[in-house]
Amino acid sequence: MDIRIFDGVKTPFYYYDKELLERTLDAIEACTAGTPMRVHYAIKANPTPELLRIISDRGYGADCVSGNEIDLAVECGFDPKKIYYAGVGKTDDEIITGLRHGIGCFNIESIEEIDILSRLASQEGKKATVALRVNPNIDAHTHEYITTGLKENKFGIDMSLIEEAVRKVKVSESLDLGGLHFHIGSQITISEPFRVLCERINELKTKLRLEGTELRFFNVGGGLGIDYDNPDDYPIPDFREYFDTILSNLDLDEGQEVHCELGRAIVGQCGSLIASVILVKKGLEKNFMIVDAGMSDLIRPALYGAHHKIENLSARAGEPLMIYDVVGPICESSDVFGKDETLPATKRGDLIAFRSAGAYGSAMASRYNMRDLPGTLVR
Ligand code: LLP
Repeated sequence: MDIRIFDGVKTPFYYYDKELLERTLDAIEACTAGTPMRVHYAIKANPTPELLRIISDRGYGADCVSGNEIDLAVECGFDPKKIYYAGVGKTDDEIITGLRHGIGCFNIESIEEIDILSRLASQEGKKATVALRVNPNIDAHTHEYITTGLKENKFGIDMSLIEEAVRKVKVSESLDLGGLHFHIGSQITISEPFRVLCERINELKTKLRLEGTELRFFNVGGGLGIDYDNPDDYPIPDFREYFDTILSNLDLDEGQEVHCELGRAIVGQCGSLIASVILVKKGLEKNFMIVDAGMSDLIRPALYGAHHKIENLSARAGEPLMIYDVVGPICESSDVFGKDETLPATKRGDLIAFRSAGAYGSAMASRYNMRDLPGTLVR
C-alpha cells in the first residue's frame, strides 16, 4: 500500500481499493457469463454509496434487509426489479416501501408473513413476487453467530412446512410465487455445505413439482468466505469453485435461474480500516499498542473473536520486531484487535491497517463512547 494516498486523511477511516473491487467483479463475471446464475450483492455487508454504484453499474441485483437499504439501492442505481427484500421481521412501512418501488421479490420467512404481505400488496393494488425462505437444516461449519440454516435458528420456514406455505401463497391474488430462498451461513470456506444445499434444493424441487408447483428461480443465499490470514495472496475468493459447485450440482430446468447474494466475497478484501497509533504503553508484562480505532469502528474481533491481519504501514526498514497487544481506546476489555502480534517497532503516529475489513466493518460501526463514525476513502 502506498501510504501517500492517505496524507491529510483523518484517522480512523475505511479505505476501499476500487481497482480490487473491479477485479473481484471481473472474476465473478468470468464464471457466471452465459450461465443461469444471477448475482445479487448483499448490501448489509457494506452500504457505502460509491461502492454500491460500482456494483450496480455492472448490472448486479441487490439483496436488502430493510426499507432503508431498499431506498439506498434504488438511489444508487440498482434496477428495482433486481432488488430482493429479506428479513424475519419486516415492518408494514418497510413492506410498503418495497411495494411502491416495485421490487423484484420479497423473501418470506414465515407462514405468518404471507398474510401480512398479501394484505398490504392488495391494499397497494400490486402483485408481489415472493420466494419462500426455507430453513434447510444444514451445518455450514462456521461461527455459531453467523450460521443461519440450522433448525434452531430463527431464519426461514422449516422444510416440513413448505408445502403448506406454497398453498397459502397460491391462494392469494396479490402474491405470485417465484422461487425458493436459502442461506446457510456466512464465512463458509469449504464447498461441501453448498453441495449439500444443492441436494436439498433438488429434493424439494422434485417434491413440489409432483404437486404441480413450478418455480422460476432458486436463491442459494450468500456465505462464500474470504482469506483473512492471507489477504495479499488471496485477494479474490475462489469463485470458480463456488459457482461450479452450485451450477454443477443444482438440477435446473430450461429457463430456470439460480440466484446468489454474496456480500463478504465481493467487498471483504477491498477494504482496510486505517488507524493511527496514539501511543505505545509499556506494561509490566506486555506492550500495548493503543490505536485511535476501536470496537466502535470494527466490532468483528470483539463480537466474533475474528482476527483481521494487522500491518504497520509506516514501518521503517531495519526496525526490530516487537510483540504487542493491539488495542483500541474504548472502555471495554474486549476492545482488542490482536494479542501478541509480532510487528516492527512502532512509534506514536504510525499508520496501522486492519486488513480484509470491507465487509461488516463500517456497516457495523457505532457511536459507542460518543465517538465519531470512521471516515471513508474510496480510491
Ligand atoms: N443472504 C442472507 C439471507 C444473509 O443473511 C446474509 C448475511 C447474506 C446473504 C450475505 O452473506 P455473505 O455473503 O456476506 O456471507 N456480521 C457477520 C456476518 C453476518 C452475515 C449476515 N447475513 C460478520 O461480520 O462476519
